[in-house]
Formats: sequence, structure tokens, C-alpha cells
Amino acid sequence: MASNWDSTRPGETEVTLPEAQDAWLRFIGRIETPFETRDDCPRRGDFDGPECRVILDATWAPALQGIERRDRLEIYYWLNQARRDLLTQTPRGQQPRGTFDLRSPVRPNPIGMSVVKLLRCEGNVLVVLGLDCLNGTPLIDIKPRLCHQDG
Ligand SMILES: C[S@@+](CC[C@H](N)C(=O)[O-])C[C@H]1O[C@@H](n2cnc3c(N)ncnc32)[C@H](O)[C@@H]1O
Repeated sequence: MASNWDSTRPGETEVTLPEAQDAWLRFIGRIETPFETRDDCPRRGDFDGPECRVILDATWAPALQGIERRDRLEIYYWLNQARRDLLTQTPRGQQPRGTFDLRSPVRPNPIGMSVVKLLRCEGNVLVVLGLDCLNGTPLIDIKPRLCHQDG
């Protein structure tokens, strides 16, 4: 995607990415949000934010069995518009930091995760609160959030 997402700020360093691929992912659906641009997105999801829809491909719908009893889920998604080559990044108004010291979408494998509040399950669609991704972001996994992971 041609945009200023590819520009480099003072203190940022990049790497030339190797050709080789170590693994492949299967996108299992997509996420519908009201966020059409990066500026629209919150920096992180908020249960006071808008309802969003996690749309699972029909093939995987049976894999939702039992999920309606869950209150919190972990939604994993592929931040498909992020560059992947930065070693250090300079968040606005801050000093440079290593990519792995940040939750930035820019990382070698741009996996995002949000803990969401499940409002309801409508067939292969989960209606949730707490997402921070662009409309159309590919879905890669859903896991229940278990109590011992909180706090
Ligand atoms: C800071 S990341 C955090 C993602 C996730 N909550 C996490 O902690 O892993 C969220 C930001 O990623 C950006 N973003 C959202 N959807 C994206 C997408 N599909 N591709 C690239 N960047 C995206 C937006 O700027 C959003 O504010």
C-alpha cells in the first residue's frame, strides 16, 4: 500500500526482508469495524467502543460450538497493511524503541490480538466490543480468554 506508512522517522531502523517464508497462515474470516482509516482506529480496543463483527468463513462455523457461553475472547488478526521491516520504531513524541518492546502493528509477523467482550453469536458472526483494527482485517484465530489469564 503506497502511503506514509512506509516512511521512516528519526531513530527508526529497517531491515531487508529475506525472500524465504517459514510458514503460511490460513485466514479464517474477516473483521467488520467502523474504522476505515488508520486514523479512525483507536490505539487499542475499548469495551466502550463500537460493536464490531467477527465474521468466520462458513467452513469454520461448526468450530464455534460452545463459544456463546464465553464472556471474553481473544481475537487474533493479521494487520495486513502494516510494513514488516522495522527493527526500531519511534512512536510519536517518544524516543526510539525496539519493535518487540512495542504493540505497534509494524512487526515481522503483523499479528494483532485484542481481548474482546462477546455480546452475542449470530450463526457464523460474533458481535463483540473491544477491537482496534481496520474494517476488513483478516481473521486468523479465536480463543476463549480464561480467568487465570486476567490480572
Ligand atoms: C497498536 S495496534 C494493536 C493491535 C492489537 N490490539 C495488539 O495489541 O496486538 C492497533 C493499531 O494498528 C493499526 N491497524 C489496525 N488495523 C490494521 C491493519 N489491518 N493493518 C495495519 N495496521 C492496522 C491501527 O493504527 C490501530 O490503531
